[in-house]
Amino acid sequence: MEEYKNLLHSLSDDILTITINREKNLNALNVETLQEIKEVIQYVYDAPEIMGVIIIGAGEKSFVAGADISEFTGVNEVTGRKFSEDGQEVFQMIENCNKPVIAAVNGFALGGGCELAMACHMRVATENAKFGQPEVNLGIIPGYGGTQRLTQLVGKGRALELMLTADMISAQEAYRIGLVNHVVSDREELLAKSNEILSKIKAKAPLAVGMVIDCVNAVNNPEENGYQTEANSFSRCCGSDDFTEGTAAFLEKRQPIFKGE
Ligand code: COA
Repeated sequence: MEEYKNLLHSLSDDILTITINREKNLNALNVETLQEIKEVIQYVYDAPEIMGVIIIGAGEKSFVAGADISEFTGVNEVTGRKFSEDGQEVFQMIENCNKPVIAAVNGFALGGGCELAMACHMRVATENAKFGQPEVNLGIIPGYGGTQRLTQLVGKGRALELMLTADMISAQEAYRIGLVNHVVSDREELLAKSNEILSKIKAKAPLAVGMVIDCVNAVNNPEENGYQTEANSFSRCCGSDDFTEGTAAFLEKRQPIFKGE
């Protein structure tokens, strides 16, 4: 995989860790960084050596403190729409990725940072993490899917309160309302917990893993009948070698060896 200006990446035990590396700007997402995330995720889709992804921010203070506000100058209705649609496209690619993606939230996850975390399949946070959608302070609204995903994750009343007041909430509060899956003490624990989750998933049938993600995403797609998607996916699983292997391994009282086919 190529080197990037704003991202670091490392592959260990089939898990790709992507670090957003703009610590001086609290890892704010400029257009270039967003484009780089897009390229890496595109790569992940077809990379047999990668089974899962962790996204984390450089340093102790911030996951991502939002879109880069210095790039907002001169944005108008036309360029603003493009800004929103481009970001939505990248975050949808993350959400639709057939391999699990975990946001490891260390510090601020604000605006586009909170939206990035929500586009990931799961969120683990350190005690010092802070979540918020402060866009109304700037005269805008969340534009990278936040109005939709926050509502899906925490419900309408809580989502509206967060987006309308621009309040920041603690990791514990985010955990309480279902915005994060786990809260841990520090960065080391954060990576350990994220790796632990992905390691468990690594032992499962890859096709089935991708299809669970697909079916769960169907819940939020009004054009799709999720039950139909589930039946189609179940049927495809039943035609796979991994299904034969998984059931045979159970009956033979041994660990399955899945091939993802
Ligand atoms: N875009 C661009 N730069 C940002 C940024 C953003 N979203 N968030 C922080 N930065 C920059 C600051 O401008 C500052 O740069 P400087 O050192 O060159 O002045 C640097 O990161 C450190 O931020 P600072 O504000 O000094 O840190 P703080 O600890 O006092 O406050 C925050 C931290 C996160 C509360 C504050 O930076 C903030 O409110 N950021 C904007 C959050 C936001 O509105 N995000 C949504 C955007 S749509």
